[in-house]
Amino acid sequence: MEIVIRRATLDDKAEWFNMRKGIWPDAPDEYLDFDMDDILESGNDAVFFALLDGRPVGMIETRIREYGEGCETSPIGYIEGWFVYPELRGQGIAGTLTQAAEDWARGKGCTEMASDTWLDNEVSIRAHVKLGYYEVERLVHFVKQL
Ligand SMILES: CC(C)(COP(=O)(O)OP(=O)(O)OC[C@H]1O[C@@H](n2cnc3c(N)ncnc32)[C@H](O)[C@@H]1OP(=O)(O)O)[C@@H](O)C(=O)NCCC(=O)NCCS
Repeated sequence: MEIVIRRATLDDKAEWFNMRKGIWPDAPDEYLDFDMDDILESGNDAVFFALLDGRPVGMIETRIREYGEGCETSPIGYIEGWFVYPELRGQGIAGTLTQAAEDWARGKGCTEMASDTWLDNEVSIRAHVKLGYYEVERLVHFVKQL
């Protein structure tokens, strides 16, 4: 299986949107697409697609952030979104995407990479750990109606 990694472009927006929907199925469409153009134009962001026989099968969204929980340096690379279509999981595609994101952040001068996921996303947690990420913090979100 030969996976090709390349940067996403404006032409990939529909496919990228589908993959975002795969990560955040309950998010409204307006929320999922409001920042896509900005991300593609920003030098601080990169979206990489994984292609199998020319077909997009996964993606990683990565950003340069000033701060990352548990990090000792600044700026740092951050994994903002990570997705592989279910039928192709467990074959190293996310790992290859992560390498591309890490290489990109390294090229931007970063020496640390950070990420997050939901407490109950065991697969994502295990994949992070397998790829060399270690847990530094757990977070609980709150809301109060005003
Ligand atoms: C998380 C996700 C991107 C991983 O994609 P993937 O292509 O299956 O991952 P890989 O095959 O590259 O695996 C990466 C590492 O994680 C491990 N891993 C992956 N799936 C695993 C599972 N179900 N159980 C245990 N370990 C797992 C692999 O063993 C691999 O380590 P190795 O290279 O040392 O063997 C994929 O499951 C996904 O898209 N999930 C839904 C979206 C999501 O939750 N995204 C993350 C939050 S933003």
